[in-house]
Amino acid sequence: MKFNFEEQTLKYQKLGIVTPTKKMIKTEEQIEGIRKAGIINTKVLDYVSEKIHAGMTTEDINRLVQEKTTELGGNCAPLNYEGFPKSVCTSINDQVCHGIPDMHTILKNGDIINVDCTTIYQGYYADASRMFMIGEVDAEAKRLVRVTKECLDLAVKELKPYARLRDIGYTIEKHAKENGFSVVHEIGGHGVGIEFHEDPYIYHYGRKNTGMVLFPGMVFTIEPMINEGTRHVFLDASNNWTIYTDDGGRSSQFEYTVLITETGIEILAY
Ligand code: MF3
Ligand code: CO
Ligand code: CO
Repeated sequence: MKFNFEEQTLKYQKLGIVTPTKKMIKTEEQIEGIRKAGIINTKVLDYVSEKIHAGMTTEDINRLVQEKTTELGGNCAPLNYEGFPKSVCTSINDQVCHGIPDMHTILKNGDIINVDCTTIYQGYYADASRMFMIGEVDAEAKRLVRVTKECLDLAVKELKPYARLRDIGYTIEKHAKENGFSVVHEIGGHGVGIEFHEDPYIYHYGRKNTGMVLFPGMVFTIEPMINEGTRHVFLDASNNWTIYTDDGGRSSQFEYTVLITETGIEILAY
């Protein structure tokens, strides 16, 4: 049966379940725009994965992302977003997220790095990130990166229309903890598409079968940050952007932009 917003809203509200606002449901036209932004964003991350190597700087990654995005007809959303000074986030080892590229930070053998790209195409946004392992990485870092990707893929596998929002976080946290890792609580995923960050907030932890019901047409990111050690983090006061783990342990993150469809889900950027 075709999705009817008013009908489903009434049905779930009678059950006392929080429902999405109309604004959270994208139109076909909007979805097509976000899909195109996602295709560009994925190509940019593929390009980074071909070029990334020990000895290059995070500023070099910034240039690759800026050049490729522009070549494909898009714009980099991070640049000047709330004062962010660069076109991409590059977060190395104990940096959890929002690392700022610079010409002094050189990738070295054994580093793990997250590259987080967000493309604007004809006004539509898609947001995704991946981990890259530089040269020979130790076994624990490999396991951290693998488990992080598994957390995200498991959560996505269980996603379907009329699932509950906190199921996502439940699945992520369970898998992380089973592997001896922790989940960062302070930063979550988000609605995306018409703006960079929209409602709803997507938790990466929580209780099964709770939270908002997910309707077809919703587009949001899932972007778990998984730590080797403590889940606790702090903000770098010198730039007011970069988040680090409290204990200096390494952190890993993958991010997809996903669409809830009438029958399942579609990954719009990865
Ligand atoms: N791309 C990040 C996210 O996943 C947000 C970065 S904000 C920026 O939500 F300004 F640092 F780019
Ligand atoms: Co995001
Ligand atoms: Co992102």
